[in-house]
Amino acid sequence: MLQLLNEHNMKILIIGGNGTIGKKVCKRLSEKHEVIIAGRNSGDVKVDFSNSESMKSMFETIGQLDAIVAIAGDAKWDKFENLTEDDFYIGIKSKLMGQVNVVRIGKDYLNEGGSITLSTGILADDPVDMTTSAAMVNGGIHSFVKAVALELINGIRVNAVCSDLVEDSYEKYKDYFPGNTPVPMHKIVNGYVKSVEGKINGEIIRIMA
Ligand SMILES: NC(=O)c1ccc[n+]([C@@H]2O[C@H](COP(=O)([O-])OP(=O)(O)OC[C@H]3O[C@@H](n4cnc5c(N)ncnc54)[C@H](OP(=O)(O)O)[C@@H]3O)[C@@H](O)[C@H]2O)c1
Repeated sequence: MLQLLNEHNMKILIIGGNGTIGKKVCKRLSEKHEVIIAGRNSGDVKVDFSNSESMKSMFETIGQLDAIVAIAGDAKWDKFENLTEDDFYIGIKSKLMGQVNVVRIGKDYLNEGGSITLSTGILADDPVDMTTSAAMVNGGIHSFVKAVALELINGIRVNAVCSDLVEDSYEKYKDYFPGNTPVPMHKIVNGYVKSVEGKINGEIIRIMA
């Protein structure tokens, strides 16, 4: 019988696993794998992923993993005119450096052939009003993913799932995205499954409706 190499049960950490997208991804990946949820205020382990010391101590507590998924990160939304330098640092420290640090620190806790999946969004390619900061960090993560994939060793892969506005967030954000067709949740979940269980590396997995 044909044996699928990646069908084995993996130990997967999901940072932001209790969030809007995270909980759906957790539900799916838990069907086959052991999933550990990390969050600022909720989950199996607590972490502030914008703080590298907090991240190191989380990885030390958990030990070796087969996959790390980050579905978290904030950036300030406002008119460019209103955004201060410190406002830009919110996105840089949280969504950008938080995810860079997931790779920088997390790679040392991955088994051979492990994977890291980051999260970005439509704004990188298709920004809307008030998103200079959010769009900027998303684009930065895309460039980072492509570059770091060239250097990771031990068969460790890294990808980013880049989604359009998702159905479960549509009511909250629809006024910011006029004319947007939101992504069904199963489609975005499939993007994470593709990264975790598949073989792709250094890719930006774009999920549109
Ligand atoms: N929703 C969308 O339509 C959409 C589309 C494309 C991209 N994205 C991106 O995908 C990511 C998740 O979006 P979402 O809508 O699922 O967000 P969400 O509902 O706000 O959930 C975010 C999750 O991340 C955790 N978290 C936030 N900051 C953290 C930190 N500093 N350290 C550790 N955990 C932290 C939260 O945990 P606690 O509650 O415990 O703090 C929460 O579980 C965001 O980066 C967002 O920009 C979202």
